[in-house]
Amino acid sequence: MGAFRWLSLAAAASSVLAITPEQLISAPRRSEAIPNPSGHIAVFSASQYSFESHESSAWWSLLDLRSGNITPLTNDSNVSEVIWLTDSTLLYINGTNAQIPGGVELWVSDVTHFSAGYKAASLPAAFSGLKAVTTESGDINYVAYASSYPNGTAYNAELAAPALSTARIYDSIYVRHWDYYLTTTFNAVFSGTLKRSQRSQYRSFGGLKNLVSPVKNAESPYPPFGGASDYDISADGQWVAYKSKAPDVPQANHTTAYIYLAPHDGSEIAFPINGPGSAPKGVEGDSNSPGFSPNSKTLAYFQMEDKSYESDRRVLYTYDIASKEITALATEWDRSPDSLKWTDDQTIIVSSEDSGSSNLFLIPIAEATGDFTPRKLTNGGAASAFYLLPNKSLLVTGTTQWTSWKVYIASLHTKLAAKTLVSANEIDPELAGLGPDDIEEFYYPGNWTDIHAWIVKPTGFDESKTYPLAFLIHGGPQGSWADSWSTRWNPKVFADQGYVVIAPNPTGSTGFGDELTDAIQNNWGGAPYDDLVKGWEYVRDNLDYVDTDHGVAAGASYGGFMINWIQGSDLGREFKALVTHDGTFVADAKISTEELWFMEHEFNGTFWSARDNYRRYDPSAPEQILKFSTPHLVIHNDLDYRLPVAEGLSLFNVLQERGVPSRFLSFPDENHWVTNPENSLVWHQQVLGWLNKYSGVGEEDEGAVGLGDTLVPVVDINPPV
Ligand SMILES: *[C@@H]1O[C@H](CO)[C@@H](O)[C@H](O)[C@H]1NC(C)=O
Ligand SMILES: *[C@@H]1O[C@H](CO)[C@@H](O)[C@H](O)[C@H]1NC(C)=O
Ligand SMILES: *[C@@H]1O[C@H](CO)[C@@H](O)[C@H](O)[C@H]1NC(C)=O
Ligand SMILES: *[C@@H]1O[C@H](CO)[C@@H](O)[C@H](O)[C@H]1NC(C)=O
Ligand SMILES: *[C@@H]1O[C@H](CO)[C@@H](O)[C@H](O)[C@H]1NC(C)=O
Ligand SMILES: *[C@@H]1O[C@H](CO)[C@@H](O)[C@H](O)[C@H]1NC(C)=O
Ligand SMILES: *[C@@H]1O[C@H](CO)[C@@H](O)[C@H](O)[C@H]1NC(C)=O
Ligand SMILES: *[C@@H]1O[C@H](CO)[C@@H](O)[C@H](O)[C@H]1NC(C)=O
Repeated sequence: MGAFRWLSLAAAASSVLAITPEQLISAPRRSEAIPNPSGHIAVFSASQYSFESHESSAWWSLLDLRSGNITPLTNDSNVSEVIWLTDSTLLYINGTNAQIPGGVELWVSDVTHFSAGYKAASLPAAFSGLKAVTTESGDINYVAYASSYPNGTAYNAELAAPALSTARIYDSIYVRHWDYYLTTTFNAVFSGTLKRSQRSQYRSFGGLKNLVSPVKNAESPYPPFGGASDYDISADGQWVAYKSKAPDVPQANHTTAYIYLAPHDGSEIAFPINGPGSAPKGVEGDSNSPGFSPNSKTLAYFQMEDKSYESDRRVLYTYDIASKEITALATEWDRSPDSLKWTDDQTIIVSSEDSGSSNLFLIPIAEATGDFTPRKLTNGGAASAFYLLPNKSLLVTGTTQWTSWKVYIASLHTKLAAKTLVSANEIDPELAGLGPDDIEEFYYPGNWTDIHAWIVKPTGFDESKTYPLAFLIHGGPQGSWADSWSTRWNPKVFADQGYVVIAPNPTGSTGFGDELTDAIQNNWGGAPYDDLVKGWEYVRDNLDYVDTDHGVAAGASYGGFMINWIQGSDLGREFKALVTHDGTFVADAKISTEELWFMEHEFNGTFWSARDNYRRYDPSAPEQILKFSTPHLVIHNDLDYRLPVAEGLSLFNVLQERGVPSRFLSFPDENHWVTNPENSLVWHQQVLGWLNKYSGVGEEDEGAVGLGDTLVPVVDINPPV
C-alpha cells in the first residue's frame, strides 16, 4: 500500500522544483523565427496545452530583431504556415476551406491589418509545407505537398469514400512503417502559381501540377519524418527539386534515395540527378535536403555512401544544372551535416551534430576540397533553423538543455559573440529558474576510447549533499544526448525530482565522429555495455555528490534494449529500479520490424544468413533471464510498428513469472513515442513515480512525483499473498 502515501505528498507545493512534468508539457512550444526581407522583424508561431481546459491554443507573433520585443499577430489557429512576400505582407496557409471540406486555402494579409486579408487560392486537400518565390514576371510560384492517388489527384481524407472492407493486401514490403499501414496513396509535391490581378491581388492561376506522381513509385516528402526540407523551389521559380526513395530498388531493405529535378510548370517529368550511373561511384545511400543556390544554377544536397546504413556519414554535394556535374565538398570532414542553406552563390552553411551540440558551419565552395574543415559559426546548444539577414549576420533559432527556444544573432564574418534576442526560460513562467548552471559535461575512459557524458543537477543543488543517480541511456543506437530541449526524456525533469542525471554518449553515439558511431555494428551489447559500466564506475569513484547505492536507470528504443540487457547482467544489480520504453527483448523478434535495412546493417546480414549476429546479445536468453531481479517498469505502445508491442509484453510476462516487481504501461494511440499531452503526463507520473519509489527520492522531496499520482486505475488481478 506504500504507493498511496504519495498522493497526499504530491499535492503539496512543488516549489523546490524548477521544472515538473506538468510544466514541461504545458510550456509554450514555438517555431523558428522567420525574418522579413529587410531583416527587421521575424514571425513565429506558438502552441500551448492547458491542463485546466485540457485544450491546446495556438497563436502567431512578431519579434523585433533589434529590441527582441514580441508583439501579437493573430490568435487564429487556422493560420498554419506563413511566408513573407514583402516586408509587411504574408502569404499563409489557412487550414479551413469554405468550399471544400478537408481542403485548405492560401491567403494574403498585411501584418499591420492582419484580419483584413484576402483569399488567393483554394486547395482541394490538406496541403502543407508551403514554399514560394516571386518570379521575374511578378507571379508567385509555389510548391506544397499532400497525399496523392497514383493518378496524380490529391487525396482528400474527408471526401474519400469509406472502404467497405477493412482488409489490407500486400504483394511486397513495406507493409507498415512507423505507425501507419501503407496504402495506395503517397506523398507528392505539387506546384502552383498565383498571378496578380488588376486589383493588385493575387489569384490562383492554372491549377496544381503533381511533380511526383509521373515517376512511378516515387514519393516525396518521405514519411514519417520528411517534410518541407525534402524539397525546394529555385529562387527564380523555374525549378523544383525533391527527394524520393529510389523507386528502382526494394525500399524496405535499402536506404537509397535520389534527388529529382523538374521544371516548376511540370512540362517535363522529373529525373534523378544522382540516380544509377549519375551519382559518384560507390555513392548509393540516402540523399536529402536539396537546396538551390540564389542564382538558381546549382543544387546542393547531402548523400550517404552505404545503401543500408541510415547513420552513414552525410557528404555535401553540388549539382550544376547546366552541365549536370556533381562535386563532393569537404569529403574528409568527420561530421554528418543534416541541413543546408546557401548564403551566396559561392557559400553554403550547414548544421551538424558536433560533440553533444548541433552547430552551424560555413563552407566556401572553392575552398572545400581535400581535407578542408568547415568553419564553426556557433558554439553549443542546438541550432534548429537559420536565416541570413541583409547585414550578413545570421538569425538562429535554437534550443539548449535549459531553454526550449532561443532566438539569437550570430556573426558570419567576425568572431563577435552571439547576441541573444529572446530565450524561453526568461519569458515562460513554466521554465523560470532554468539556466546553464545545472548542466556539466565530462569525458571518461570507455571501452576503447574516451566517452562523453552529461551531468544534469537538480535545482538548488548542494555539493555537500548526495543525490541518487538517474542513469539515462539514449536510443538510436546512432543518436546522442545533446545540448538541446526535448519534451520527451528531458533530463532536467528527471534531475528536478532529486537526482543527479548522468546521460552518457557511449559507442554508437553520433556527433563525435564516424568511428564512434560505426563501432556499434554487430556489437550492441559489447563495447556500449562496457562503456556504460565504466561510466557508472567513474561516477561512483569520482562524483562524491552522486549516491550510486540508490541509483536507477531508464532508456527507450535501443536504450530500452540496453536496459533489458542490463537487467540480465552484473550492472543490473547496481540499480534499485529500471524502466524500458519500447525496447527489443527477444532477439529473433527483430525480424518483425519495418525498416529492414536497419537490422541488416546493425547485425551485418539478413535474418537467415547472420542469425548468430541477431542472437549475440539476446536479453531473453535463459542465462540472462535467470538473473532478472531489479524492479522493472515496462512501457510499450500499440502503434509502435518499429518494435511491435509483443516485445514489451514478452518482457513483462517473463518479469512477472520470475516474480520480479514489475508494471506494464501501454498507450493504444501512441507509437514509438508518447506525444499526446495527457498521455505524456501519465507517462511521466509512471516513470518518475516508479524510479522515485525504489530510489527513495520522494521520501525527502515533497515535490517529487509518486507512483499513485495518476488518475488511471491500475489493473491487478493477482491472488493476495
Ligand atoms: C544585423 O541585423 C540584426 C537585425 O536587425 C541586428 O539585431 C544585428 O545587431 C545586426 N548586426 C550588425 C552587426 O549590425
Ligand atoms: C491573443 O491572445 C492574447 C492572450 O489572450 C492577447 O494578449 C493578444 O492580444 C491576442 N492577440 C491578438 C492579435 O488578438
Ligand atoms: C477557423 O475558420 C473557421 C471558418 O471561418 C472558423 O469557424 C473558426 O472559428 C476558425 N478557427 C479559429 C481557431 O479561429
Ligand atoms: C480562413 O478561411 C476561412 C474560410 O474561407 C475564412 O472564413 C477565415 O476568415 C479565414 N481566416 C483567416 C485567418 O484567414
Ligand atoms: C484519381 O483516382 C481517384 C481514386 O480512384 C479518383 O477519385 C479520381 O477521380 C481520379 N482522378 C482522375 C483525374 O481521374
Ligand atoms: C533487399 O532485398 C532484395 C530482395 O527483395 C535482395 O535482392 C537484396 O539483396 C536486398 N538488399 C540488401 C541490401 O540486403
Ligand atoms: C570491451 O568490451 C568488451 C565487451 O563487453 C569486453 O569483452 C572487453 O574486455 C572490453 N575491453 C576493454 C579494454 O575493457
Ligand atoms: C560484416 O560482414 C562482413 C562480411 O561477412 C565482414 O567482412 C565484416 O567484418 C563484418 N562486420 C562486422 C562489424 O562484424
